[in-house]
Amino acid sequence: MNRRAHITGWGKYVPEKVLTNHDLAQIVDTSDEWIVERTGIRERRVRGENDTTTSMAAAAAREALAVAGLEPEDLDLIIVANSSPDYLLPSPANFIQHTLGASCPAFTIAAGCSGWVYGLATGHQFIQTGVYENVLVIGVEIISHALDYTDRTTCVLFGDAAAAVVLQPTTEDAGVMTFELGSDGSRAHNLWVPGGGTVNPVSQKVVDNREHYIRMNGQEVARFAMRKLMSCLSSITAQAGITPHDLDLIIPHQANLRIIESAAKHLGLPMDKFFINVHKYANTSAASIPLALVEAIQEGRVKPGDTIGMVAFGSGLSWAGAVVRMGVRETELAHVNGNGHVKVSI
Ligand SMILES: CC(C)(COP(=O)(O)OP(=O)(O)OC[C@H]1O[C@@H](n2cnc3c(N)ncnc32)[C@H](O)[C@@H]1OP(=O)(O)O)[C@@H](O)C(=O)NCCC(=O)NCCS
Repeated sequence: MNRRAHITGWGKYVPEKVLTNHDLAQIVDTSDEWIVERTGIRERRVRGENDTTTSMAAAAAREALAVAGLEPEDLDLIIVANSSPDYLLPSPANFIQHTLGASCPAFTIAAGCSGWVYGLATGHQFIQTGVYENVLVIGVEIISHALDYTDRTTCVLFGDAAAAVVLQPTTEDAGVMTFELGSDGSRAHNLWVPGGGTVNPVSQKVVDNREHYIRMNGQEVARFAMRKLMSCLSSITAQAGITPHDLDLIIPHQANLRIIESAAKHLGLPMDKFFINVHKYANTSAASIPLALVEAIQEGRVKPGDTIGMVAFGSGLSWAGAVVRMGVRETELAHVNGNGHVKVSI
């Protein structure tokens, strides 16, 4: 019998504080018009005083656990996709595990914006092999801490958020059907933080040169993103014996609406096949795909039995995609329409 990881719980946390394009235009030489025209972003959330990577992740996780009808002690594994930890050591997964009151193993995957899909594939492996039953996969970023608010080419693009899913086994025709993970380290310097690591440790010079902030070659990353969105979508669907046209919904990494529109045009896919929330949150890195998935479910865009394609891309340069079939039984998505937290039966 084919055992797969199946999504049975979902939750999100976005900080209350909204930073609009107009707010940014007061800080750097930009405009709402430029940002909307080039990226589709209108606003993003930024962490409030009390928001930490741990607190945001825990809030999203608690919601996901409630939807799945699980308690923290039921968890066998916590995987956290994150590149903006509260502290350099230990990994944020440990703080999150403790805050949730879980006693299972926990670790962090640092694969930039692709991290959560890497986490989904990893959680799927532990479930498929029969090792674990209940796996929590969180994507969380306080990316605003790594933004140079004097650099208009990067600071307008990102926002903070957290989202989480619970994975449990199923032997039905549902769950993670296929995935692809990729890395091209030869192009790593196109999106990186040059200072603060062991090669170029924190120093006055690093701070003066603003090397502790994200640097990006936007055009190079945009070309890579476009190519990978198309090729990864094609390859994960081909593995599943379908084409991108057969997908009920596509959840692309929410980095830039223009990249998504361009890929859709090249693939001959209508834009209404894509779930979009980049206008509200900008690029929330590892939180981007799960946040879009959670909102798609909560807005009723996902029906029982739907087949969803997800593709992420980002620093590394990395990419990751997965085809996931949602619960095939009506009861499993019963709470989609706002009926509160319904225990999921699989
Ligand atoms: C960043 C990005 C939107 C820039 O769009 P673009 O059309 O490539 O713009 P360019 O970089 O060619 O810059 C064009 C001009 O706009 C300017 N510009 C850049 N950011 C600006 C901003 N926020 N406001 C106003 N002008 C801006 C540039 O300085 C440049 O001016 P110049 O011609 O006088 O030098 C685009 O490259 C992109 O989306 N890249 C991928 C980013 C991404 O998704 N990264 C994360 C991946 S996980």
